Amino acid sequence: MADRELDDIISKIEKEKKPFLKKSALDTSSQPSEIVSRVDEVGKIVRYLLDYKQEQVVPLLSIYGRSGTGKSTLVRHVCNYIPEIKLCFVNLRKAKTVFGGVNLILNELDQPSLASAQGMNNGMQRIQETVLSTMGLERKKLFVLALDEFDVIFNDRRGNPSDFVYKLVQMQAELKENGCLVIIVTISNDVLSDYDLDDRIRSRIGNSEIFFKPYSDKEMLEILRQRAEEAFGKKIDDKVLEQCARVSFLEHGDARRAVDLLRVSAEIAAKGEKDISIEHIKAASRQIQKDRVDEVVSSLSHHSKIICMVLAAKTYVLEKEWHSTKSTYDKYAKYLDSEPVSYRRCSELLKDLENTGLVVSKTGSKGQKGYSSEFQLVMDPGIVGEIIDKEWWEKVVVNPKKKLDELKSMGVTRNNPYYGVYQ
Ligand SMILES: Nc1ncnc2c1ncn2[C@@H]1O[C@H](COP(=O)(O)OP(=O)(O)OP(=O)(O)O)[C@@H](O)[C@H]1O
Ligand SMILES: [Mg+2]
Repeated sequence: MADRELDDIISKIEKEKKPFLKKSALDTSSQPSEIVSRVDEVGKIVRYLLDYKQEQVVPLLSIYGRSGTGKSTLVRHVCNYIPEIKLCFVNLRKAKTVFGGVNLILNELDQPSLASAQGMNNGMQRIQETVLSTMGLERKKLFVLALDEFDVIFNDRRGNPSDFVYKLVQMQAELKENGCLVIIVTISNDVLSDYDLDDRIRSRIGNSEIFFKPYSDKEMLEILRQRAEEAFGKKIDDKVLEQCARVSFLEHGDARRAVDLLRVSAEIAAKGEKDISIEHIKAASRQIQKDRVDEVVSSLSHHSKIICMVLAAKTYVLEKEWHSTKSTYDKYAKYLDSEPVSYRRCSELLKDLENTGLVVSKTGSKGQKGYSSEFQLVMDPGIVGEIIDKEWWEKVVVNPKKKLDELKSMGVTRNNPYYGVYQ
């Protein structure tokens, strides 16, 4: 056999084995080539931006909504699409402090960072001058200063986030007087006016807000179809994509996690040299949850771990999703091998767990007893239990549950010794 013939065979088989035509289409860290759906939100953004034609733009536009609803992607896409716009897009998560935010903006405008000793006012002044000269040079009509993950700046307790917003709006007004139109776009999970701002700012920023609602399962499916086509270069079974969209819609409504789920499923399928199927989606969903729980649990305190474990046990044994603070506390105190924290502290720890994404809460009325919080584990209880303490989980939760179910199937509902274990 001639070398060329062999080369042809190798490259043909390599191609057959490679399910991805363009894997980067499933990379959620870069800008997608195409925006799917979101017509309302795009329309609203464009309406605010095109106000520049009347030389009257709002100083500050707050874009908000849950994670993975397309906020960052859309702002970038729309601003880059309109040729008269100069976009300066910074993610404040990279900054952490207010002053760090000022430097990020300067760097994005190709300016060197300032030392903090040079002060905020100096930094703002430098930004203002750079915006003015850039707009003069590039002959654009509107400068968009997009501040992504803006809420992070409110964690800077030593800086003054509220004053930062004030200074930005002040700068916007001064630039306008100099014939330079600027709009500040803040992007966050909650609406900007919910944050800790003082009254002089509230009255100046008005309430120009755009809410991004979570994706429906139909929209999610559309996004996945577009990505799959680009990534695999061939049609993927619609049932597989529907399942992927359905799982994502039910669990979070987050497009980033939906695309990630498709990517991990495809990787698992490729390893087994199979076409992607519903089984692969299930395996990937488990894999992603495991990785996430692993990551979160490793940073939890001992008490938080036990609280998590109790929630997992109650969910698993009782087949019930929501659990009150009181019932969780009682079981936590029972199973802990040392002195329990106070009821109040336990309630704080439950709230903290919500920030990790393992748990969600709701406030329910308890009639005459007033209001109380209830908590739900959003991850598979089996995964949580096994990761925190596999041995304990098997012995105290899984085995008694098996016995409980056995007795139940035999019709024993009363006097069943395994009832009430997690009540
Ligand atoms: N309408 C859409 N069309 C195509 N891809 C989308 C769309 N919306 C979101 N995505 C994809 O989902 C991912 C998450 O979107 P994006 O980063 O814009 O969300 P976000 O609302 O800014 O989330 P976060 O609050 O976590 O920052 C991105 O990788 C993006 O490519
Ligand atoms: Mg974002």
